Amino acid sequence: MNENSNKNYIRTRRVLGIETSCDETAVAIVSSDKEILAHRILSQIDDHSEYGGVVPEIAARQHIQHLDKLISGALDDARLLVNDLDAIAATTGPGLVGGLMVGVMTAKAMALASGKPFIAVNHLEGHALTARLVEDIEFPYLLLLVSGGHCQVLMVKGIGKYERLGSTIDDAAGEAFDKTAKLLNLGYPGGPAIEQLAEEGDDTRFKLPKPLINKPGCDFSFSGLKTAVRRAAEGCVREKGALSAQDQADLSASFQKTVGDCLIARLKNAITMFKDRVPTGSYPFVVAGGVAANKYLRQRLEELVEKEGLTFHAAPLELCTDNGAMIAWAGMERFLLDDQINDIDVSPRPRWPLDNSAVPMGGSGKKGAKA
Ligand code: KG4
Ligand code: ZN
Repeated sequence: MNENSNKNYIRTRRVLGIETSCDETAVAIVSSDKEILAHRILSQIDDHSEYGGVVPEIAARQHIQHLDKLISGALDDARLLVNDLDAIAATTGPGLVGGLMVGVMTAKAMALASGKPFIAVNHLEGHALTARLVEDIEFPYLLLLVSGGHCQVLMVKGIGKYERLGSTIDDAAGEAFDKTAKLLNLGYPGGPAIEQLAEEGDDTRFKLPKPLINKPGCDFSFSGLKTAVRRAAEGCVREKGALSAQDQADLSASFQKTVGDCLIARLKNAITMFKDRVPTGSYPFVVAGGVAANKYLRQRLEELVEKEGLTFHAAPLELCTDNGAMIAWAGMERFLLDDQINDIDVSPRPRWPLDNSAVPMGGSGKKGAKA
């Protein structure tokens, strides 16, 4: 059928997305029909684990080494040529500048060589919109973005339209998981290790602080929690000479439960703030970012938001942590809004808040352990 012979026929669009802002080199191709046509990801965890966190120079070098092959592999998987794509998107910030440059330069080169538009994607917008790739979720929605570098609550009003309701004043939630895991000798990244150990632990054994829990607003604070875990671990070592496997499990469980208590308490306030901003009705709540892969936290969040009359949504586990599909999809959303888009003049931005009008936050949470 000729494309123009039927007005209702809308051609399927395809966007390739590149993610290199931190320690994953990832490429995906998604279609406007919400199909993931290719999805390749190369984790650098092994390259960084001995340092207990991401080393920017190593990350950038690994991106350079592997990105080209991942792109050609993704095109093969989707049985497409560059010419079959409608746009090339890449994470342009926030993140580690060396890695961002690798992804952006590669995407721009592909775009210029093929005459396709380049789309500069905000990594946080990638997380924020991922749930819409797998489900039909309407705007506005309340978003909890919890990752290694960020912990914030936003009202998502549309593509590119965000209002930040609260944010961490020090560490990000994922960063707290990573730092806690490091001091318990659980390796990097800490989230999955702590979640697994917590299953065998007693979450009532250690009483840990819950900063800001009774304060108004919905900012977060996690740095005191990590310090309290360190003190508790030191106490165990003083008593018995070493940290036992049970101590590790109990500390993991107590830590994870406390993070849950803090998230729930602050989210309750965020829900009130959100409801003040929208007409009465039932709205979606979306949790996104690497920490959203935690099943215990997902369940607690789901219980709260359903009690509050919102619907619960989260990306599938494999799309919670950094990946190329979230970048390709955010690029797609932008392309569908404006097919004349071309960000070829946009440069990598190590800092790039979603809500430009919000005051910058102090502490390291805006960058996090991953930076
Ligand atoms: O979104 P992401 O891949 O990267 C950033 O944009 O920061 O998030 C990575 C973070 C890490 O801090 C990691 O420890 C955390 O997500 N994470 C988890 C889990 N899986 C990953 N935290 C808690 N529980 C998990 N299962
Ligand atoms: Zn991320």
